[in-house]
Amino acid sequence: MTAGPTREPFDPARFISNPSTGRMGFALAAEAIRRGGEVTLICGPTHLETPPGVHLVRVSTADEMFRAALNQAPGVDLVLKAAAVADYRPEVRSPGKIKKDVLLADRAILLRLLPTPDILEEIGRRKKPGQVLVGFAAETGDLEANALRKLLKKNLDLIVANRIGQEGEGFEADTNRALVIDRHGKKTDLPLMPKEAMAAAILDLAEPLLAAGAGQPGGRSTRRTAS
Ligand code: CTP
Repeated sequence: MTAGPTREPFDPARFISNPSTGRMGFALAAEAIRRGGEVTLICGPTHLETPPGVHLVRVSTADEMFRAALNQAPGVDLVLKAAAVADYRPEVRSPGKIKKDVLLADRAILLRLLPTPDILEEIGRRKKPGQVLVGFAAETGDLEANALRKLLKKNLDLIVANRIGQEGEGFEADTNRALVIDRHGKKTDLPLMPKEAMAAAILDLAEPLLAAGAGQPGGRSTRRTAS
C-alpha cells in the first residue's frame, strides 16, 4: 500500500507537494491488518501513527516511492495505491537555500518542472498473474470517464475515484465518497462515510478478486498486501 503525499524539493527549505494527509491509505493498512493481511505501507511525509503490525517504509519524493514500490510489488498479492504522488518535480534541486538577493530583478523565480515516473502504471506493466491492483483517482472533472481511462491505462482491477475540492471528500477530510469501477465496467457507489468505513468497503470489493486471483495458474497463494 502507498499513502500520503510526496515532496519534490527545489532547495533545502522549499518543495512542491499536495494536501494529502495519508488518512485513506493508513485506514486501508489498518483494515487489511485487521483482516489478517501482512501489510507493507510505503508512505510519504505524514503525522499519522503507524497502525500496529504494519511494516512502514518512509519515503519523501516520487522517485523514492517509485523505487520502494517497485521493490515490494513483485512479492505481493494486492497493491492499493492510495498515495497522492506529485506528478512533477523541479528540474534543479539547489544544494543551498536560494537567496532572495540573488534572484532576478523582478524577484520572480522560474521553476522548470519535469514529470515524475507513474508508479502505478509501471506496476501495472509488470503485473504478475493473480495479482490484484487497486488504483485511486482524484478528479475535479468527469469522474467516471477519467477513472475508466486510468483503470485501462494502468492495467488495474479496481479504481476508486473521488472528487477533490468538495466538502467532506478527498484531501484533508475525515470522510470520503467514491465511485468504484472494476475492469468489467461494474460500478459501485460508496456514499459519504468515515475513511475507516471506506477502507472496509474498498477491501470488501477487492477481497473476492484476490480469492479469484489465487486460483489462477501462476497466482500466488499466500496473503501479503502492499498499500
Ligand atoms: N500515481 C502513481 N504515480 C504517479 C501519479 C499517480 O502511482 N506519478 C497513482 C496514484 O497513486 C493513484 C493513481 O495513480 O492510485 C491515479 O492518480 P491521479 O493523481 O488521480 O491521476 P494521474 O494518473 O496522476 O493523472 P492526472 O494527474 O492527469 O489526473
